[in-house]
Amino acid sequence: MQGVARNFFTLAIIYALCGMALGIHMAISQDHGQMPTHAHIMVAGWLMSTVFAFFYHLFPAAAGRTLAMVHFWLTAVSGVALVVGLYLLLAGNEAMEAVTGIGSMGFYAAMFLFAFIALPTVYSRA
Ligand code: HEM
Ligand code: HEM
Repeated sequence: MQGVARNFFTLAIIYALCGMALGIHMAISQDHGQMPTHAHIMVAGWLMSTVFAFFYHLFPAAAGRTLAMVHFWLTAVSGVALVVGLYLLLAGNEAMEAVTGIGSMGFYAAMFLFAFIALPTVYSRA
């Protein structure tokens, strides 16, 4: 694994370690107030980044495009803004609502870009 695939896999592992630590913290403290943050770190973070990693690993031609690196950075920056913003918002910092909202829209835009990269790749005859 290399390039953008390895970047996504590294990001996925970081999400998994942070999200599971938050899950253990919630379980020990018996305070599940951060459940939406944990759920998004695990599913939108760990699972989605892993899917992207293996997609780019399986399709090196798509991984070699500049757009793939744009997809990685948009996903990484907006995803971290989304989950860190959500964590702080749920911890009571209402000013973080804007950061969480902008992160969400960036994350959606990144998914849109992925559709643009991935669909022609899987439909191509080559
Ligand atoms: C160290 C391991 C983990 C611990 C200690 C943990 C802990 C928790 C806790 C305490 C909740 C809140 C449950 C509730 O209030 O109903 C929760 C919810 C959740 N966890 Fe984890 N979790 C772990 C790993 C994972 C993993 C690996 C995933 C996914 C890949 C995951 C995905 C979710 C999701 C999606 C929810 C929300 C469920 C719902 O909407 O009802 N968790 N977890
Ligand atoms: C555009 C970005 C997203 C936004 C704005 C968003 C928003 C939300 C909202 C408002 C909830 C309800 C939370 C609650 O009732 O407490 C939710 C729950 C959930 N979302 Fe998302 N979501 C986004 C992306 C995703 C993605 C990409 C995934 C998975 C790949 C995902 C997985 C989940 C799961 C598993 C839950 C249930 C967890 C819970 O009940 O706390 N979300 N999301």
